[in-house]
Amino acid sequence: MIKENPIILGIESSCDETAAAVIRGRRLLSNVIFSSATEQAKYGGVVPEIASRAHTEAVDEAVVKAIREAGITVNDIDAVAVTYGAGLLGALLVGLSFAKSLAYSLNVPLIAVNHIRGHMSAAYLADETLTPPYLTLLASGGHTAILHIKSFTEFEVLASTSDDAAGEAFDKVARILGLPYPGGPNVQRLAENGKAEIKFPSSLVRGSQTQFSYSGLKTAVINFCHNAEQKGEPLNKADVAASFQKSALEPLVKKTIENAISLNVKTVTAGGGVAANDYLRNSLKAECEKHGIKLILPEKKYCTDNAAMIAAEGLIQYQAGNFADMSLNACAQIPLK
Ligand code: KG4
Ligand code: ZN
Repeated sequence: MIKENPIILGIESSCDETAAAVIRGRRLLSNVIFSSATEQAKYGGVVPEIASRAHTEAVDEAVVKAIREAGITVNDIDAVAVTYGAGLLGALLVGLSFAKSLAYSLNVPLIAVNHIRGHMSAAYLADETLTPPYLTLLASGGHTAILHIKSFTEFEVLASTSDDAAGEAFDKVARILGLPYPGGPNVQRLAENGKAEIKFPSSLVRGSQTQFSYSGLKTAVINFCHNAEQKGEPLNKADVAASFQKSALEPLVKKTIENAISLNVKTVTAGGGVAANDYLRNSLKAECEKHGIKLILPEKKYCTDNAAMIAAEGLIQYQAGNFADMSLNACAQIPLK
């Protein structure tokens, strides 16, 4: 039986966050995140085996805590939504196996969630009235795209990156600048004290309206830093960070707004780790305000990896009647569509 406001438990374990959350309809009841990021930072990035072990240790506690903090009992759960990809296989399997056994033992539906679709759906919890059509700016460690969400289950990709994702570029530039993992927030922090006056190439491919590219921008930053080093010139890292950040993010905001105006879409949302970036958030806010567009921006903690967004996307799939069976397997790569 399909309920109007089901209680859905979401489980996420695709990278270095072990997360569990409970929603009732579009209302978030609890949100628990355990992260192995501090341990991963020692190695400069995510070590898959360390992530898998950390998930194994944390998943049970995360789910129990999410159920307790939601003020429900395990028997109140109407469906279990879990990330089945994309991500690290070993890491995904921990959450997936847990979700399967729980759904099986409770005799409730299992819902397979594409992690990226989860990022897109975080906005549904930020505004319970959000209804398609609207545009989403999606920017994470693996994806960068502007999407036209036409209905709860249909969308069109209006623009996307042809190589690296925006988050990946932040992580690489962080490494060049000697900043620790995770790169994005550290580049942002450094950029706050810098001037965005160095001319780096725009992340929008020249002459294109639909293609972003981050590899050229990354190479330009590397060359700039190496040049300064070879000439023995002082390098103002804060200026490099600020200039990179502007070149990387300004075109994303500009194209999102241009598309909203030309399609006459009145609502814009954002999702993915890079949507936690203050420069991006502030310029989206300013541009949307200027053009009379409603902006729905999930809080930062729902932009980076979390299980609330997995439960939210689970609700969309639940309402569409898309349920998985016990043969569901983890997938390292899955296309956006
Ligand atoms: O969505 P996410 O948590 O994981 C997936 O890739 O699915 O995104 C992680 C990415 C990383 O590349 C990280 O550096 C970037 O999001 N990120 C940021 C910020 N916070 C996270 N990038 C720029 N500014 C931030 N404040
Ligand atoms: Zn993610």
